[in-house]
This record gives sequence, structure tokens and C-alpha cells, in this order.
Amino acid sequence: MVEQTGILAIDQGTTSSRAIVFDIDGHAVATAQREFPQHYPHSGWVEHDPQDLLDSTLKVCRKALKGARAAGVHAVSIGITNQRETTIVWDRKTGEPVHNAIVWQDRRTAERCAALRSAGHEAMITERTGLLLDPYFSATKIGWILDNVAGARARAEKGELAFGTVDSWLLWCLTGGKSHATDATNASRTLLFDIHKQRWDDTLLELFDIPKAILPEVLDSAADFGTSDESVLGAALPIQGIAGDQHAAVVGQCCFSPGMIKSTYGTGCFALMNTGSEAVPSKNRLLTTTAYRINGQPTYALEGSIFVAGAAIQWLRDELGIIAHASQSEGLANSAEAEGLFLVPAFTGLGAPWWDPNARGAFFGLTRNTGVAEFVHAALDSVCLQTGDLLEAMAGDSGTHQHTLRVDGGMVANNWLLQRLADLTGLTVERPQIIETTALGAAYLAGLQHGIYASLDELGSQWALNQSFNPAISRSHRDHIVAGWHDAVRRTLTNV
Ligand code: G3P
Repeated sequence: MVEQTGILAIDQGTTSSRAIVFDIDGHAVATAQREFPQHYPHSGWVEHDPQDLLDSTLKVCRKALKGARAAGVHAVSIGITNQRETTIVWDRKTGEPVHNAIVWQDRRTAERCAALRSAGHEAMITERTGLLLDPYFSATKIGWILDNVAGARARAEKGELAFGTVDSWLLWCLTGGKSHATDATNASRTLLFDIHKQRWDDTLLELFDIPKAILPEVLDSAADFGTSDESVLGAALPIQGIAGDQHAAVVGQCCFSPGMIKSTYGTGCFALMNTGSEAVPSKNRLLTTTAYRINGQPTYALEGSIFVAGAAIQWLRDELGIIAHASQSEGLANSAEAEGLFLVPAFTGLGAPWWDPNARGAFFGLTRNTGVAEFVHAALDSVCLQTGDLLEAMAGDSGTHQHTLRVDGGMVANNWLLQRLADLTGLTVERPQIIETTALGAAYLAGLQHGIYASLDELGSQWALNQSFNPAISRSHRDHIVAGWHDAVRRTLTNV
């Protein structure tokens, strides 16, 4: 058998770690996935054990590499994509984390953010980082660890500790502690990185009281990050692509031209619109972020971040126990009439465009005939209606109404959801043949650096449509539903 070339993509997400080996045409030849425990030590707190993130990643990588070898595909490069903002601080000598990872969903620093906002710092922070003062991002999480773990601040100041988002942590471990680096997209989510100058910002470091000595080096998204240690992974391979998961999805969806939008449905939902070489400031409380950086050249995006999408279905399954499997949601929603019923899934506050960390979830419009199917319908509607809010805000910021939305992530296998998304947003929704777009984007970045692909244009021609969904309800019907949704959201907000 003639061996083919492949790329190993690591996708370390919020609820599971996945590894996929792609061939150079972008087809998945071997896949492995593992869930790991979530820790909720207090209301609004979410933690992961960094060792779980590493162990699950190593296991799935070994399995995918083995499966690929059996299929005659030999991985020559690694791309990493990851849940973003999640914060890990570890000892440079021992490699031991000093605390659990504080996950992006964690709200423990809401008060610290509110205090910085009251002190008038938000405008300067937004101007430099493109972000808002919200506990979602890394800076206040790092501060919390340094202030709450005995001796951590002094050790950080002496250069004994390292900070990283999950990509950095995995890179450090995979290279046996040789590389402490990240890429420009992950750095852009920390509140410490100036996205215009593309470097760590001393004023922000001072404001958040973070010693510079703990920060990783920031490289392009396609770069030579290091080589995996054979004793750790069982293979010595160059690590040549890194991007936060939503940024990797922009690459995997080949949204390379200004105006193109992708929306990824995982635990949360994150819609990014490519704005080219211009970092467009938002007037509608979206984020401005680095979409990807290649050959030192940043491409920017406007981003809308919703904290609960797939997590709403997980909640119906795991906490309420009213469905056994997420895949039941399609049939149930299809069988329901849920006009006037709304779930506002503010389980961990509300993200864009509301940004209310203290809002909590609520159902509105319950009647005697509200049952399981109606709950599921309302949960899926909330995903579509939140996406609609992001798209409206994007249209306001960019001055253009787009006509199509490329979607990906596990939830988009659900045809009912995509038809409803088209109905409730008024856009044509396009599902590509490969919906594991996040991992594919990481593989593309590594393949670019490895010389497998010559350019983004070459990658663009690999994108292939699976199915498109066109709006099928009237404008007035849509407006009526959206008005009911906004009324429900307003009743959960605490910051108006
Ligand atoms: O910003 C958080 C995001 O990166 C998490 O993505 O796919 O794990 O929901 P996901």
C-alpha cells in the first residue's frame, strides 16, 4: 500500500477532546473523541483539571494516529485548536499546574470586571484589545489565580510560573516543556494583547496586575511551534498550526474574503465575520478579534459570542433528563407547536450583544400543553434567535446585510435546526460537506506551514456544499417571533 500524507488535528474543546487525521484533500481518515469531567465548585464557577485535558488529548491522538496508519495515511504535521480564554498557570520547572483551569464560562471575576468598568477603564481596553470587560476573557482569571493560590504571585514575578490558554498548555506538554508559545488568535482573547500592534500591552499588564514573565511568545497561526516529544505522544511530529477554535473554523470554512460569515454550533455558538485587514470597532457590543495571522499579516473579524447553544440540549438531556440523546431533538422539535414559548438560556449569563454576567435562564410562555417536545423546540429556537441577534449587530457594524451564513459544528447535522435558522434569520444557511470545520482549520494551518498547501486560495477551492436552507416564513411572521424573543430577553437582564 502506498502511504498517503496526512495532518493530525487536535481539537481540545469545552466538553471533549478530539483528534482527527485528515488527508490532504481535507477528508477525515481517522477520528477519536473523549469526554472529560467538568467541575462546578460554586455557582457560576467552571473548572477543568489540566491533566484531564492533556490525558484525553494524548489518548485520542494515539488512537487517531493508529487508525490513520491502518488506513495507509501517515501524519506529517500537527495542528492544534482549542477552547479559548480558558486559563492555566503552571510551574515551569515541574510542569505542575498551580490550580485547575478556569474555564471561559466561569463568572467568578464578574465583580472585578465591574470594578474596572466603574473606574472607567473599559473604553481603553476595548480600543486596544477589541474585547469588553467581561469575566469571559483570561486576564481577570489569571489575576484570580495569582491572588488566591498561596505564593503564586511572588513565584510568577520571579519567572517561575507560566500562563497559557489551552493551546499553550498542550504545546508545552507535547514538546516536553520546550515550547512556551501561543498564536495571535488565542492571545487576542486574553485582554492583554493589543490586536492592532499584535503584541502584549504593558499598560494592560499593569492594569490587570499580571507579571510579563508568565506570558507565552506569540507566533503566527501557521508557524513552527515545536516538535512533539516521542516519549509523550509516541511520535515526533512538527506542530505547525495553532488557532482558537472559532478562528480555526473561519479557516476551515474558507471564509477568506471580507463579509463572509461562519457560525459554529458547539457548547456555545460563535459567529465570525471576516473584515479583512481592517479591525472594525463594534458599535453593537460585538468583539473585534484576530481571525488568523499568516506571514505576519493579521486578518480581522467581528465576533458574536453566545455562551449556550448545544449546552441547552445537553441541559435537557443531563439535568432535566427529558431526552435520552441529543439526536432526538430534531424529531421532537418537528412535532411541536411552540408559538409564544421562549427559553432564554442565560445559564452562565448572556454574551453578545447583551453582556450581562448576572442574567440567569428563564422560560416564558408556558401553557398546560407545554411538554417535552415544546421544551426542545424552544431550546433550538433560542439558538436560532441568538444567532439572529448577532447577525443584526454585524449588519449594523459593517453596514452590509449578508445573504448567506456558513454553519458548522455538531449541531448542524440537525436539518430542522438549520431550516429554522434560515427562517428566523432570513439568511440562506449553508452546510458544508465537512462539518468538523474547526479541526479542519487547524489541519489547514499546519498544512500551510508544512508546505502541503501553497495558499489560502488553494484551500478555498476545497470547500464543498452539502445542503443549503432558504428562509420559508414571511418577514412579518419572523418579526413577530423576534419581538417576542426580545421581550423575553429583556425580562432576564439585570444590567438595564
Ligand atoms: O470562547 C469559547 C469557545 O472557544 C468554546 O468553544 O466549541 O468548546 O463551545 P466550544
